[in-house]
Amino acid sequence: MLNPSFSKALNRAVSSSYRAPDFVANRIVEGNKNNDTGEEYRLQQAFNDEIWLKLERAGLSSETFCDSDVLEVCAGTGFLTYHIIARCQPKNLTINDISHAELEASKEFISRTYPSAQIDWVLGDLHTLKFNRFFDIIIGNSFIHHFHDVPKVMKHFASMLKPGGVFISLHEPTPMAPVVEGAKTAAWPLAVLSPGFVNDIARSRHKGAPSSTDLWMFDAEEIKQVARGAGFSYAETIPWGLFRPTVVQRNGLHLSKEKPALSVEEERKFTRAVNLDALLNRFLPQRCFGSLTLVCRR
Ligand SMILES: C[S@@+](CC[C@H](N)C(=O)[O-])C[C@H]1O[C@@H](n2cnc3c(N)ncnc32)[C@H](O)[C@@H]1O
Repeated sequence: MLNPSFSKALNRAVSSSYRAPDFVANRIVEGNKNNDTGEEYRLQQAFNDEIWLKLERAGLSSETFCDSDVLEVCAGTGFLTYHIIARCQPKNLTINDISHAELEASKEFISRTYPSAQIDWVLGDLHTLKFNRFFDIIIGNSFIHHFHDVPKVMKHFASMLKPGGVFISLHEPTPMAPVVEGAKTAAWPLAVLSPGFVNDIARSRHKGAPSSTDLWMFDAEEIKQVARGAGFSYAETIPWGLFRPTVVQRNGLHLSKEKPALSVEEERKFTRAVNLDALLNRFLPQRCFGSLTLVCRR
């Protein structure tokens, strides 16, 4: 499903193919190339704990990382890179992004915080970029929903992994994302029953241009099907994002130049919400949650 900044007609036309028409694709590639989000602030222990909790639930330990050739895709300003290196320096680490500004910001940030880290930096669009080597792990946070041709890039990822290699995205939005990210708790029960209906209301209310960087919200079964079609022998999704995004939104925990860090109490609240989601996702179904982790094995 397209995110609610796109029209009903376009959403119906692309359905669950996760392939956008050329006029949208060209805009999205340009939009992402021009991405320039500024400084990275999510450095506190609570963010590190959240990332490693998700990785461990996906079956990846810090020992696995230390021993692996790792490609981090769509790395932005270095959020995930920073928290991976905090626990271990992979055997080889390659970092990619399509945006020159994002990649330069990340280079500056990581070389300042981890001066001895050995990293290959690769600028380019993953729809077309060629790597002349294979990886044990391809990882990223919050990025598949930016691709205009998801099946093509997933196929490319499968072909770049060594046998038994893992591809993982730690966070992708589901059709519940607008409701949970916006902390619209009153709309939550209806959205659980009919996410398409609630998103169509949001589409008709949307004013202004469609997003120039983000496209999709993923249904768990559909994205697993895309992964299997791309050549992965195994694909799993893990639900996340129920109390965590609501607590962030309600308490104004988004970090920026004006609010560069969480207070001790805010960090505690954040961690409690992540841990509550980690408990609830063991028995509540995926359709209750605003995001998912996708884990695929070659
Ligand atoms: C939502 S941001 C996530 C950044 C980072 N992973 C994080 O969690 O903070 C998505 C990133 O994907 C990058 N991106 C989007 N499309 C891409 C593409 N086709 N090839 C490579 N990078 C891309 C964008 O420039 C942006 O930095």
